[in-house]
Amino acid sequence: MASPERIGVFDSGLGGLTVAMRIAQQLPKESIHYFADTLHVPYGPRPDSDIRAFAGGIVRNFVRQDAKAVVAACNLSSAVALEDLAQEVDIPLIGMIRPGARAALEASSGGPIGVLATEGTVRSGAYARAIQALEPGRPVIQVSCPNFVPLVEAGRYDSDEALTAARMYVFPLIQSRVRTVILGCTHYPFLDKILRAALPSTTVLVDPAEAVTAQLARVLEERDLQWHGSPAPHQFEASADPGRLEAAVKRWMGLKVRAENSRLWSAPAEDHGLAAARG
Ligand code: DGL
Repeated sequence: MASPERIGVFDSGLGGLTVAMRIAQQLPKESIHYFADTLHVPYGPRPDSDIRAFAGGIVRNFVRQDAKAVVAACNLSSAVALEDLAQEVDIPLIGMIRPGARAALEASSGGPIGVLATEGTVRSGAYARAIQALEPGRPVIQVSCPNFVPLVEAGRYDSDEALTAARMYVFPLIQSRVRTVILGCTHYPFLDKILRAALPSTTVLVDPAEAVTAQLARVLEERDLQWHGSPAPHQFEASADPGRLEAAVKRWMGLKVRAENSRLWSAPAEDHGLAAARG
């Protein structure tokens, strides 16, 4: 491949950065084009038709621009929009649900699997279907957590409010003796500390991002789409309030960014924090 086409990664907001971060660390040659649909966040309470329209617009834009593959770093989009979009576009589309379901079963030593997710993802039943397709009859307990995404977007993931909400949401999981819990929304890894405080210490929290990144790596290899040249800058874009995305990219991904043509670009990989962290 002659030019470094990018991996499109999208979410309703900042949550997908938890996936982008893994991709950047584990596939350091690849460059990411991140899109945060902050104009429409939160996606969770919206009807499926809205999510399909938003995800469709974002994916088609990626395809028109520079994407060789797209990761829906949004569980809700993965649950309700990806299957149809995969029929329409001819680049690989990777979602959160199946890799997350498989990772949870691998991590589990038995008993029910818990899923913490947004209202829409819970309503879709996608995780329960994916888990039970792999292991028929395995009990799945889903809990929707409507307060979490607004708290993370507002930077209050470490607040008393977040802990109170977490205690309320995990209660049915504790009652059912769930020992493996999927973080079924990409915003929730930001709440890792709070969730660990609210759950028994033996609970295993499964962030699907790791399995999603491994699947992306496999697909790039199988289709000969890996980039072998020197790493190009990542690109970050938001549909509203780019300042919030900029602050999150700097803080969470440890990247230096510069604004240009209403987008943010990371410094060349050699200069940025991740490169240093990789050694
Ligand atoms: N982070 C997204 C997800 O994984 C969506 C969060 C939202 O906007 O409700 O589902």
